[in-house]
Amino acid sequence: MPENAKKVRLDKFLTQAAELTRSEAKQKIKKGSVTVNKEFIKKPEVKISLQDRVCIDGEEVLYEQYRYIMLHKPAGVISATEDAEDRTVLDLIAEGKKGLFPVGRLDKDTEGLLLLTNDGVLAHNLLSPKKHIDKTYFAILDGPVGTKEQELFLQGLDIGDEKLALPAKLELTENKNEVFITVQEGRFHQVKRMAQAVGRNVTYLKRISMGNLVLDPNLKKGEYRSLTEKELTSLKKK
Ligand code: URA
Repeated sequence: MPENAKKVRLDKFLTQAAELTRSEAKQKIKKGSVTVNKEFIKKPEVKISLQDRVCIDGEEVLYEQYRYIMLHKPAGVISATEDAEDRTVLDLIAEGKKGLFPVGRLDKDTEGLLLLTNDGVLAHNLLSPKKHIDKTYFAILDGPVGTKEQELFLQGLDIGDEKLALPAKLELTENKNEVFITVQEGRFHQVKRMAQAVGRNVTYLKRISMGNLVLDPNLKKGEYRSLTEKELTSLKKK
C-alpha cells in the first residue's frame, strides 16, 4: 500500500507527528484541542489518512514517518541514544528525536558526519558489511606518510583482527601528516588501527562522507539539519 493511502488512528498519528505520549494524545483529543480538516474530533480511535490536515489548538502538525538528520558530531559526545555518564549525540537534537538512532558509530573523540534516523532498513543497508559503503575520513597523524603507506593501505592491512582490512584508499595532501582515508568497512577503531598498522597514531579524526552523503560544510560542530530529498535519494541508491 502506498504511504499516502495509509490510515492511522488519530492518537497514534499524534504520538508520531507531535511527539506526544499515547495518553497525552488521547487527552488532547478528548479535550477538543484537535481538528482534522478543520473538524473537531474527540475520539482517539478515529482513523485518518496521512494527507489529512491535523491541528492541535490551531497549529498544524506534520506527519513524517521517517526522519533523516545529518549531524556534525563534535568531539566529546558518544554515538549512542542514551548513556549514564556521557552526553550522547541525541542530546544535541532539540526536538523530534523520538525513535532516532545513529547509523553506526564514531568514537567519542571523532568529529564529523553522523546520520541519525528512525529508518531501520536504510541503516541496515548502510551498515551491512556486504554493501561496502565507502566512508571517507580526514585524519591528522603523528608523523608523515607517503607512497609506501598508500601501497600498504591498498593491499589490505593486518589490524589485529582475524581477517585483513579490506583495501583502503590513502590520499596524501601537501602536509604529509594530513591525509584522507577511505574505508569500505566500519570495524571498531578501524582508521586508528589502520594508521597504527603503518606505524602512525591518529591525533585528529573527522568523517567527511558516507556513501554519497557528504558533510555539509555550513554545519558547525554540534549543528544538524534534515537531509534534502536529493541527498536521501542518492543515499538510498547505494
Ligand atoms: N575509525 C576510527 O578509528 N574511529 C572512528 O570514529 C571512525 C573510524
